Amino acid sequence: MDPNLSLEFLRVVEQAAIACAHTMGQGDRHKSDQVAVEAMRKVMDTVPIDGTIVIGEGERDEAPMLYIGEKVGMAHASGGRGPADEFPQVDIAVDPLEGTNLCATGTANAIAVLAASTRGGLLHAPDLYMEKLVVGPSSKDAVSLDAPVDENLKAIARSLGRGVDDLVVTVLDRPRHEKLIADIRATGARIRLIGDGDLSAGITAAVVGSGVHAVMGTGGAPEGVLTAAAMRCLNGEIFARLVVSTPEHEERCRAMGISDFKKVYRSADLAPGERIIFAATGVTDGTLMRGVRFFGDGIRTSSVIMQNEPHQIRFIDSIHVAPATDVKIRF
Ligand code: FBP
Repeated sequence: MDPNLSLEFLRVVEQAAIACAHTMGQGDRHKSDQVAVEAMRKVMDTVPIDGTIVIGEGERDEAPMLYIGEKVGMAHASGGRGPADEFPQVDIAVDPLEGTNLCATGTANAIAVLAASTRGGLLHAPDLYMEKLVVGPSSKDAVSLDAPVDENLKAIARSLGRGVDDLVVTVLDRPRHEKLIADIRATGARIRLIGDGDLSAGITAAVVGSGVHAVMGTGGAPEGVLTAAAMRCLNGEIFARLVVSTPEHEERCRAMGISDFKKVYRSADLAPGERIIFAATGVTDGTLMRGVRFFGDGIRTSSVIMQNEPHQIRFIDSIHVAPATDVKIRF
């Protein structure tokens, strides 16, 4: 996979973010998601790849665009741009708007995001819940998904050379996390409760200086795979296990080739690809990226693009200039 594709994928997440940012605070999460999906789908066909969506908006019968198995990229663009074998085969996981409620309410940390890999490099995960523990590079060999919360927090504190009460753990604010939250509080660690967006929280936990040291709790499995792709680039780690609690869940796992329902996955299991590209653009202001800003003559976006080979993390501030001659660019 050509590393220059990362700039192509940047265009994809930027346009998805710009589209849904127009709906920020309108209170219509479905509309916000729909415009992000449409924009992402449109730009995707201008990327020179023979792409397959492996994590998307759902099964073919429930999602008109970016459904699992959908072929995308120039190789499949309408009008035909040439034989598919001229383009690299790429698997893609997308979340055109991660944090639909965050965008609909104008709350922090909504992002447009995708991960791409050489074929077979991203787990085909069913849209179930997943238990997750996300930590940065210093702590990844010190924790375990099955260890008690206080043991993990002590281990994270030791690896960061600080006290447990100096840690900040991000947790989705959900009734299912009542015990987890109580257990964290009992250790004296600080908690950041979030309404949505455990994917952007996971990225933050792997970046030193972000003020977050771990993400704990249960969230979406697709977001878990995307988090794993980011961890492959940031040297952080996600530990994860699917929540398979009904025969229907088991059936959905088997349909995706998963038969070990108790497996603890790490980043390299969820995103095993030799080459990984991860791209995200802020929709609303967030910890690592600003949200989309409209200034009449143009639009300013803030993104991160990461790849593992060559290993590179880029924070990109783009100004999309309106077609006029006298637009003023501000630093
Ligand atoms: P959406 O982008 O689909 O709104 O998902 C946001 C999210 O908060 C994820 O970040 C998280 O993994 C998942 O939803 C949690 O699911 P639930 O809201 O059902 O607890």
